[in-house]
Amino acid sequence: MEILYLLYLVLAWYVSKSELVGAESQDQTVLLAINQELRVPGWDANSSNYCSWQGVSCDNHSMVVKLDLSHANLRGNVTLVSQLKALRLLDLSDNNFHGFIPPAFGNLSDLEVLDLSSNKFDGSIPPELGGLRNLKSLNLSSNLLVGKIPEELHRLQKLQEFQISSNQLSGSLPPWVGNLTSLRVFAAYENHLDGKLPDNLGLASELRILNLHSNQLQGPIPAGIFAAGKLEVLVLTQNNLSGDLPPELGNCQGLSNIRIGNNHLLGTIPKTIGNISSLTYFEADNNNLSGEVVSEFSRCPNLTLLNLASNGFSGTIPPELGQLLNLQELILSGNSLFGDIPESILKCRNLNKLDISNNRFNGTIPSEICNLSRLQFLLVGQNSIRGEIPHAIGNCAKLLELQMGSNYLTGIIPSEIGHIRNLQIALNLSFNHLHGPVPPELGRLDKLVALDVSNNRLSGTIPADLKGMLSLIEVNFSNNLLSGPVPEFVPFQKSPNSSFLGNKGLCGEPLNSSCGNVYGDHNNYHHKVSYRIILAVIGSGLAVFMSVTVVVLLFMIRERQEKAAKDAGIAEEETNAKPTIIAGNIFVENLRQAIDLDAVVKATLKDSNKLSSGTFSTVYKAVMPSGMIVSVRRLKSMDKTIIHHQNKMIRELERLSKLCHDNLVRPIGYVIYEDVALLLHHYLPNGTLAQLLHESTRQPEYQPDWPTRLSIAIGVAEGLAFLHHVAIIHLDISSGNVLLDANFKPLLGEIEISKLLDPTRGTASISAVAGSFGYIPPEYAYTMQVTAPGNVYSYGVVLLEILTSRPPVDEDFDEGVDLVKWVHSAPVRGETPEQILDARLSTVSFGWRKEMLAALKVALLCTDSTPAKRPKMKKVVEMLQEIKKN
Ligand SMILES: *[C@@H]1O[C@H](CO)[C@@H](O)[C@H](O)[C@H]1NC(C)=O
Ligand SMILES: *[C@@H]1O[C@H](CO)[C@@H](O)[C@H](O)[C@H]1NC(C)=O
Ligand SMILES: *[C@@H]1O[C@H](CO)[C@@H](O)[C@H](O)[C@H]1NC(C)=O
Ligand SMILES: *[C@@H]1O[C@H](CO)[C@@H](O)[C@H](O)[C@H]1NC(C)=O
Ligand SMILES: *[C@@H]1O[C@H](CO)[C@@H](O)[C@H](O)[C@H]1NC(C)=O
Ligand SMILES: *[C@@H]1O[C@H](CO)[C@@H](O)[C@H](O)[C@H]1NC(C)=O
Ligand SMILES: *[C@@H]1O[C@H](CO)[C@@H](O)[C@H](O)[C@H]1NC(C)=O
Ligand SMILES: *[C@@H]1O[C@H](CO)[C@@H](O)[C@H](O)[C@H]1NC(C)=O
Ligand SMILES: *[C@@H]1O[C@H](CO)[C@@H](O)[C@H](O)[C@H]1NC(C)=O
Repeated sequence: MEILYLLYLVLAWYVSKSELVGAESQDQTVLLAINQELRVPGWDANSSNYCSWQGVSCDNHSMVVKLDLSHANLRGNVTLVSQLKALRLLDLSDNNFHGFIPPAFGNLSDLEVLDLSSNKFDGSIPPELGGLRNLKSLNLSSNLLVGKIPEELHRLQKLQEFQISSNQLSGSLPPWVGNLTSLRVFAAYENHLDGKLPDNLGLASELRILNLHSNQLQGPIPAGIFAAGKLEVLVLTQNNLSGDLPPELGNCQGLSNIRIGNNHLLGTIPKTIGNISSLTYFEADNNNLSGEVVSEFSRCPNLTLLNLASNGFSGTIPPELGQLLNLQELILSGNSLFGDIPESILKCRNLNKLDISNNRFNGTIPSEICNLSRLQFLLVGQNSIRGEIPHAIGNCAKLLELQMGSNYLTGIIPSEIGHIRNLQIALNLSFNHLHGPVPPELGRLDKLVALDVSNNRLSGTIPADLKGMLSLIEVNFSNNLLSGPVPEFVPFQKSPNSSFLGNKGLCGEPLNSSCGNVYGDHNNYHHKVSYRIILAVIGSGLAVFMSVTVVVLLFMIRERQEKAAKDAGIAEEETNAKPTIIAGNIFVENLRQAIDLDAVVKATLKDSNKLSSGTFSTVYKAVMPSGMIVSVRRLKSMDKTIIHHQNKMIRELERLSKLCHDNLVRPIGYVIYEDVALLLHHYLPNGTLAQLLHESTRQPEYQPDWPTRLSIAIGVAEGLAFLHHVAIIHLDISSGNVLLDANFKPLLGEIEISKLLDPTRGTASISAVAGSFGYIPPEYAYTMQVTAPGNVYSYGVVLLEILTSRPPVDEDFDEGVDLVKWVHSAPVRGETPEQILDARLSTVSFGWRKEMLAALKVALLCTDSTPAKRPKMKKVVEMLQEIKKN
């Protein structure tokens, strides 16, 4: 009997073992098939040790338990993955997968983490996913999913994180979400969800983060969600929620963020708000809330932002708010508040924005207002504020914007306002009862863009000193008692005459009344911006000189080598009239008929076809017998090794030809003859960005306006961000490598070079690839390596060209100083940013100027001399898009 049992055991062991071996080799087969389908970079199909492939982890039995293929720019059908039966983690996030989410994933019963976010999956969420009974984290955000949240997902009882945001899901939030007792994070923002928030959402007793903003949710915020008391972040902004704020929110002492703005919420703010000791961010603007601004906010010591704008609050500002030492923004505009700005508020020493505009405040402005030393925005317009503007206002040194219009202010304009040298955005004192002269000291506000002192009782002349306001664009002196000539100052004369009307005694342009001889000829003031350069700081001067010298030397050596190589090439071509094509292909199916490879080769033998010459290549225009025009790039200093690795190069080209991005010039084909490689591209008729910016003499009519330039800047940034995303470092970013299509859409060119001449691959003898002069990052002098931050630097130079219309190197800049140094040393020279920007654009409108200043900031970040401090290209794109949006 025992022997039999033993035998049974041995047999069982043997069977299970052979099963395992079977499963194991099956995982290998599956992975090989996956690789066949997706071509995963870094997977070596020849190595049988698949457990060591990138992103693959196995258990003790060589079964794949983790598969992480995130951020790899992959596409293809991922259904096969469902055959890796032991998977516990599957991360396919941030790729280009599209089509349906494979229902077969629902059979991965050991799966604990499934992340499919940031892809292009469409269709609805497969109900089969409800079979993932061990799932703890499901992330489907940032896809193109539609339809309802399937009922079957209620079976995911172990779920801790559930993220479906940024899709196009519709329907209502299912009640069973509340039954997910382990749920900690639920994010479904940016969808089309409607209906009510389920009452039992509160049963999800572990819920920490609830983010549902930008949907069409209706009805009240259920008190239940605060019942368990663990909520930390509540974001419901931009919905259609109504009803009162439940007092139960005070249960959640760990709640740091409450963002419920842009809804239809009613009622008062519950006093229990004071129990939320962690409250940092309370944003409830644009609702129908009413009652008082409760003093209980003062019990939230970490409160940083309090935004109650555009509601129906009444009463006064509770003095207790002065206890909020961390408060940075207090935004109460658009309510019915009255009384004073309480003195106690002046204790909020971190306050940088005080916006009480558009209320019924009827007190005075405290003379110690500038005890708020960090104040940048003081917005008190449209109230009933009385009394005088305190002289101490000059102490608000950081102020960017001062809005006091439409009040009952009396007295004079204190000359001390002229001390606020940072004042940039606006100085608005209009519609008050101010009298006396316009203080000449205002002329010191050389960054100020908009000045409005209209509708007061100001008298005397407009002081000629105001011509010091070098940044002025908008001005309004109308409806005062001013007299004398309007000073001759471009921003004044360019203003509409309505800016000066309503002053009986004013004369001169832009008013129609001439001043006659009474005031005689005014000493003509010609406002001239000096662009003269003071030499760069001595300390950095030597370093700059050294690195520039090294780079120039390298550059010269390479040029010489290339020239020799090319001369030799031409001599050969002449003796051999009809070169034989070794290899050639057109990648784009429907262009095969139109392109004749012999004609391509011939076109590159004629100098008259030459379009431009870059660091690594010369570009020719080739007209095909079919009439089609293609652009042909002949690689300079072709390396024999490239020819020897021809197949590799062709593979690389084919891969690049599939890189799909609107802002990249992709190869459409190639020809190789002798040791020459020609790359074919679509012909773009509008030339390069360099030509557009720096050869305006060729097209005197056309100066690209700011919106066009900003779009170009964003396009180039997007192209480059995409390259970095797929781990390609560009080797030669310059305005000369940015081509423009018929609609001035920018396309970044020469992307192949980085693959074909990549020194780390040992396929090129050019070991010092640096790019074009003026775009070379300073660190290159010692690292001799082009990196992603190096690319960001070069991009920053292109952005500076766009902003200044100046080339990257120019005789105008002193020796050793290029565009970057010139811009960065502007403060040392005492020049404001305005003096750097192309004045033909920055003076057109306030809006343009503001955007250009913001873009200049981005360019300065990109060209920071420390590589680590430069932003990533992705971030650059975001920053520029933000500028465009505003
Ligand atoms: C894999 O093996 C095949 C045939 O054994 C060979 O042709 C191929 O070059 C190998 N691939 C790699 C990447 O080593
Ligand atoms: C894998 O094997 C090691 C040692 O052989 C053991 O300590 C570990 O617990 C095993 N892990 C699993 C998941 O079986
Ligand atoms: C992927 O392949 C499976 C069969 O292997 C097929 O059923 C499915 O429709 C394919 N999915 C997509 C999105 O093409
Ligand atoms: C899941 O597994 C079951 C049983 O093995 C099978 O019948 C079913 O077709 C599988 N589902 C999918 C979607 O592959
Ligand atoms: C889910 O995906 C979104 C979008 O890619 C990402 O921001 C978020 O961090 C992911 N969540 C988790 C838990 O990985
Ligand atoms: C939630 O759980 C409760 C009790 O376990 C049950 O009565 C109810 O039907 C469940 N609700 C849903 C929508 O599954
Ligand atoms: C908002 O909700 C109300 C009912 O509370 C409804 O009448 C209205 O149509 C909703 N608006 C939108 C845009 O969904
Ligand atoms: C306030 O913030 C600090 C720093 O984040 C934190 O350590 C502290 O616990 C917070 N205070 C409260 C009451 O939450
Ligand atoms: C300010 O307005 C409030 C409410 O209208 C009024 O009660 C109060 O007397 C006013 N204060 C002053 C100083 O006019």
